[in-house]
Amino acid sequence: MYKILKKEKLNKDVDLMVIEAPLVSKNTKPGNFVIIRVDKDGERIPLTILENDKNTITIVYQKLGYSTIKLGKLNVNDQLEDVVGPLGKAKEIKYYKRIVGIAGGVGAAPLYPQLKAYSENGSKVDLIIGARTKDHLILIDKYKKFCDNIYYATDDGSKGVKGFVTDAMKKIYKTNNYDLAIAIGPLIMMKNAYLLNKKYNLKTDVSLNPIMIDGTGMCGNCRVTINGKTYFACVDGPDFEAEGIDFDELFERQNYYKDEEHKCKMQLGESK
Ligand code: NAD
Ligand code: FES
Repeated sequence: MYKILKKEKLNKDVDLMVIEAPLVSKNTKPGNFVIIRVDKDGERIPLTILENDKNTITIVYQKLGYSTIKLGKLNVNDQLEDVVGPLGKAKEIKYYKRIVGIAGGVGAAPLYPQLKAYSENGSKVDLIIGARTKDHLILIDKYKKFCDNIYYATDDGSKGVKGFVTDAMKKIYKTNNYDLAIAIGPLIMMKNAYLLNKKYNLKTDVSLNPIMIDGTGMCGNCRVTINGKTYFACVDGPDFEAEGIDFDELFERQNYYKDEEHKCKMQLGESK
């Protein structure tokens, strides 16, 4: 069992949790994730590790589906049934002169450990962060500690550029040159950020989060086609260069379990 040591509300839909998990934390590198189960009958939830120290890992989750809503009902001193990890391929932190991180909504959480690691490795890093409203922007104080510039986009215009991250990118690229972009957020946002960057000859890395079950490359659920070859996001990723990813296949597979998810949320009384 894994004890919850801290819980913090980042906005009305998103929480941060610090969990006691020394065997996981001591081997964690940026880009790794865990699969957790709230209870013994629980669904497996893959979540990026935001931070780790000797004994703990920090996770961020959006209370969007049946299991994350259940997770959000737990409190400090409650225990999680399972925390399996660290899983996935850690990000290779090479040196680039200037990097732009592009975060869409809760994608700010998986982006954080990578962008921080690049900054610690000597790269200059900027952040473009987008969310529905200014109240949905998360982790800004943490990013401020190492980003040179932070640019905002909100769908309703309550902070920064009114529009999507891609609208902010178009403005910022007029005066800035970057050597690498890392875009993490909703799939459509990552695809559109990649397509825009391509026009500027800017390489884009993305982090894919297809449905995962075992997290060890055995079940095949998280498969991704890149340049016609099959990869598994859980063991070959979750980070990939965007060029060559079959985004349309991922969109199609993302909708497979929509009906089941809706039924589960009805059971929890969370759906209209
Ligand atoms: P959201 O729908 O509120 O979007 C967040 C931001 O992404 C928007 O404010 C906008 O700036 C940008 N965006 C959205 N649609 C776009 C488009 N069509 N073109 C360009 N930019 C666009 O997101 P949310 O509710 O915070 O996040 C939920 C989604 O994020 C889920 O789909 C979840 O699967 C995904 N997610 C992905 C990862 C990952 O590792 N890739 C991690 C966590 C969550
Ligand atoms: Fe089963 Fe990746 S989650 S192969």
